[in-house]
Formats: sequence, C-alpha cells, structure tokens
Amino acid sequence: MDITSAPPEQHHLTRTDNLTTLQSHILAEEAKHPNSIASLSWILSAVSLSAKVIASKIRRARLNDVLGSLESDNVQGERQQKLDVIANETLLRCLGSRAGVAIVASEENEEPILLRTETSGDRKYTVLFDPLDGSANLDACGAVGTIFSVLRHDRRVTPVERSILQPGTQQVAAGYILYGPSVVWVLTTGFGVDMFVLDPAIGAFLKVEEGIRIPTKAKNYSMNEGNRKSFPEGYQRYLEWAQSNGYSSRYAGAMVADVHRVLLKGGVFLYPQTQKAPKGKLRLMYEANPMAMIIEQAGGKALADKQRILEIQPEDLHQRTSVIIGSSEEVEHVVAHL
Ligand code: AHG
Ligand code: MN
Ligand code: MN
Repeated sequence: MDITSAPPEQHHLTRTDNLTTLQSHILAEEAKHPNSIASLSWILSAVSLSAKVIASKIRRARLNDVLGSLESDNVQGERQQKLDVIANETLLRCLGSRAGVAIVASEENEEPILLRTETSGDRKYTVLFDPLDGSANLDACGAVGTIFSVLRHDRRVTPVERSILQPGTQQVAAGYILYGPSVVWVLTTGFGVDMFVLDPAIGAFLKVEEGIRIPTKAKNYSMNEGNRKSFPEGYQRYLEWAQSNGYSSRYAGAMVADVHRVLLKGGVFLYPQTQKAPKGKLRLMYEANPMAMIIEQAGGKALADKQRILEIQPEDLHQRTSVIIGSSEEVEHVVAHL
C-alpha cells in the first residue's frame, strides 16, 4: 500500500521513528547500573566497532580472496578459517586499546591475554568472545556471528587466570552480532534484551526493538540430526516425540543464527553430547553462557541437560557443555524426555 494514501490515524509514531543508536542506548543503560563506570560503555563501543569491521570484511571476503581454511588448527583442534583469524585480530585490536579491559579471552587463543590486571585503579572487566561463530558456513555465503560475554575482573583472585572462571550468573553484559542479510546486534546488560540493526548508509547500529520476549512455545527444534544415533537416549526419545507431534526442523549450523531465530520465533536449540564430543561441542564461556543470559533475560530457559547453564562453575576456560536453549515450554518438553 502507498503510505501516502493511508488514513491519517495510521501515521502515528512508532518506536523506531525515535532514532536511538547503540551508542546512546549504551549510555542510557549505564545509568541503570548503580555501580557502573563508563568503561563498560567503552567496551561495548569497542565491540560495536569490531562488528562493523568484521561485517565489512565478511562482505568482501570472496572479492579479497580470504575465504577458506588455513593450514592451522585452533586451540580446540578445529581447522581455522582465514576469517576466524581476521575476526579474532579485529576484536583483540579494538578491545585491547580500551582502558577498562583487564583480560581478553578468545575461543581462538589457548591462553587469555592479560592486559591490565594491576591491583589498584578503576574497576576493570574481562571480555570473552567467539570471534566468528559458524565460520564453516562462510564459503557457502551462509550466516555467521560473533558472541561476547563481559565479566567483572576480580583482582583478589590468584593466579589471575583463575579470576576468569566465574559462572554465567556473574556476567554484566552479553550479546551477539549476526552477519546475515542485515547485521543484527542483540544485547543485554541484565535489564532485558534489545535489538539493533546496522544501517550501512550511516554506519551506525539503530535500535529496532526493546524488551524482546521469546515466545513461550513454538513447534520448532534446531539440532544437527545427523548425530542422532550418538545422542544420549533421552534426546533420541525427544526427537521421536517431536516428530510425532508436528514439529518443524530448522538448522543453520551457526549457533548465532539458530538461537536468533529461536529468540524471535520460539522453539528450542539443542546441542547434546555426541560420540565425537562426549561433553558437548559448544563452549561454556564463549557460546553457552552469553546465549543463556540473553535467552533467560527474554523469558526463556537455558539448560545443560537438567542443570541451569548460568550456574555451572567453570573449571577450564575452554570447557564444553551440552545445551538446550529456547522457549520455556519447549525446553521443558526436552527435559521431560531425559
Ligand atoms: P565455531 O564456528 O565458532 O566453531 O562454532 C560452530 C558451532 C556452532 O555455531 C554451531 O551451532 C555448531 O558448531 C555446529 O556444529 P555441527 O556442524 O556439528 O552441527
Ligand atoms: Mn562458535
Ligand atoms: Mn568461532
């Protein structure tokens, strides 16, 4: 319909008419955190800059001949894509210069990078990230993402590396960026979930939705069914049940893309233990915790089998976990079969 011919009452202001950039949103959020200091805002703005750089590199990947894998494996023993390394370096460079960052830890680096862990001065933060999630999709122009998690740095803990091993309940912010047909940023600082889209014409993320709530149910599951025979029996029973009850299957092969769809449309994303990955494939601190915080903040549930993901006490930075994340009723249906 031609907007100019719409009756006058349809020309009301919508939330998106009120242009809010990610930067101004972050500054407004700061006021909600009684003990917050400006450095958290600076950290989020460094992630935003990284996201714009990574988005533009992904867009030009084929033209610049940076698709495909390297001859190297990462710390997880997985073959690195060229863009895994580029995205990792981008985040390290952008975050490394921010005074409020004490430690950065990346899925791609064996050891955390200790930047400013001195025992005095302003409060500082640890930032953990999966620089490029679903990177195996890149060669086929599929969706990929970046996931990040922010923790307070606790200077009292020694050795300093142990200070990172905090349960997900301690996260002060978490988010992901989805590089799809548009670049979407989903963020929580513990007061609900907000969504922004990059406007390439002006180079800024604009707020498109605030206070997102995940639907309580929807008949969709998202898992790699190729692994079905090596799932624990409970998950096989769940699949059997879902398929007999009219469920649809959707799987992008990138957690960011799959969880984003579940956040907006409802359903459940699962990655159980398999023969190949007996503790699960996904990483607790880079993938499961930030996604669990977002989904819980949107009213959903996030479990590792029957345990709340956010309450797992990590013992290793690169620890893996099984995940069941999504609409509360759909997560309950899975648990009922375990
Ligand atoms: P990454 O590219 O960061 O290693 O993550 C890939 C993860 C996750 O994004 C996705 O959900 C899952 O691996 C896909 O694994 P399968 O190919 O085993 O389905
Ligand atoms: Mn990943
Ligand atoms: Mn990755």
